[in-house]
Amino acid sequence: MKRYIIKGPNNTVKGEVNISGAKNSCLPLMAASILFKNKVILKNVPFVKDVYTMKDLLISLGAKVNFSESKKMMTIINKKKHKLIVPYKLVSTMRAGVLTMGPLLGRYPQKKIKVALGGGCALGVRDTNWHLAGFKSLGAINSLDKGYVNISAKKGLVGSKYKFPKVTVTGTSNIIMAAIFTKGTHYLKNISIEPEVIDLIKFLNNSGADIKFLGKRSIKITGIKELTNGTHNIIGDRIEAFSYLCVGAITKRKLKINNINPVHLRSEISVLKKIGYKIDKKPNSIKVSTNKKLIPVNIKTGPYPNFATDNMPMLLAVLSTIQGKSQIQETIFSNRFMAAAELKRMGAKISIKKNKAIIIGQKKLNSADCISSDLRTTFSIILGAVAANGSSTISRIYHGLRGYYNLESKLRKIGVKIVSKN
Ligand code: EPU
Repeated sequence: MKRYIIKGPNNTVKGEVNISGAKNSCLPLMAASILFKNKVILKNVPFVKDVYTMKDLLISLGAKVNFSESKKMMTIINKKKHKLIVPYKLVSTMRAGVLTMGPLLGRYPQKKIKVALGGGCALGVRDTNWHLAGFKSLGAINSLDKGYVNISAKKGLVGSKYKFPKVTVTGTSNIIMAAIFTKGTHYLKNISIEPEVIDLIKFLNNSGADIKFLGKRSIKITGIKELTNGTHNIIGDRIEAFSYLCVGAITKRKLKINNINPVHLRSEISVLKKIGYKIDKKPNSIKVSTNKKLIPVNIKTGPYPNFATDNMPMLLAVLSTIQGKSQIQETIFSNRFMAAAELKRMGAKISIKKNKAIIIGQKKLNSADCISSDLRTTFSIILGAVAANGSSTISRIYHGLRGYYNLESKLRKIGVKIVSKN
């Protein structure tokens, strides 16, 4: 099992990082290919582990998927008919497997779709009740059988309306994909407007779908007959971008992040500025540097455009090194402070009370041997190790490779002293 050894403090950090396409855009776009009878071409693809898992999932449904890593491109060709069962093996390793429910139902509403329920994950219970309620609003019924949810709409899907009780990212994508060919018009309220959902809507509209915004979080989807011309350039990954901005921030070194729309990191950038970091934005890049005293902050995560829960573990690491008392309130997941225990092993002073973390920033962190437990925790620990005195070992790096493309080489290129061992 791969582990990283990082020698800190890395005051050699400098240069530029080219950000890859967004994993959380790529996965729903791949799932959306099920809705197409012809070819789908995706560009700016991040070839991370989850994307390979989604490839296996689409192949198991009957699609042909070709990857060209050198061109950052993938082509998906669908057969006339898909298999209608999504096995547990693939959904259990990647929560995003649930994203196949919507397009399978949208394309084959009168058949029985059988999708394994993913269950919980390291972040806490991750329910699909609002996905299922959204399908029900379109006329689909569901039942649970041995861990699989069976969904079908004998009379076909008919547009009506559904309001999400709370914002759900994959829930929104799923209902949009299910409703593409619906009879009539379907109205959705309180949808997720994360950049990755907007990317999916753009892709579908450019391919012939009729999805219109009625307000900030409301859309109407009018059923169409067919999707065509499925070619799309995936947006840059705002979580990967913030992760590397934090490498610059925690080392107080100048770093430039390319291939990212700064608007997608509006809240995160304003938090970095509040701490005292200097941020220079261009339409497709962000520079971070430090030229004044850094101060603690209080923040709260929330659905976009608020501070992303996925970016919180990285901020936790940065705040651990900023003297004074900071506070983070997590509002999306019940168990998102796993990085705290590992950072504490490096000398960070963090106390967790329910959904709040109180951080007393330290002048120095010291190296430690750490174990990663999920995707974003991996990067949070890397940040701790980059700032700490001495050599830290981080094991179970495979969690990080689910979502960070070329992690080790990107870190090495900007001056992080990193080696990997099996
Ligand atoms: N929820 C329910 N019922 C539902 C759906 C969601 O109770 O039917 C709850 C969840 O349990 C959670 C909250 O609502 O407490 C929000 O969950 P959401 O559905 O928005 O999360 P998701 O769609 O499963 C996506 C990203 C996550 C990211 C979250 C929040 C993808 C593939 N995954 O998950 O990404 O943390 O939105 O922004 O888009 C990551 O990349 O590291 C990652 C975990």
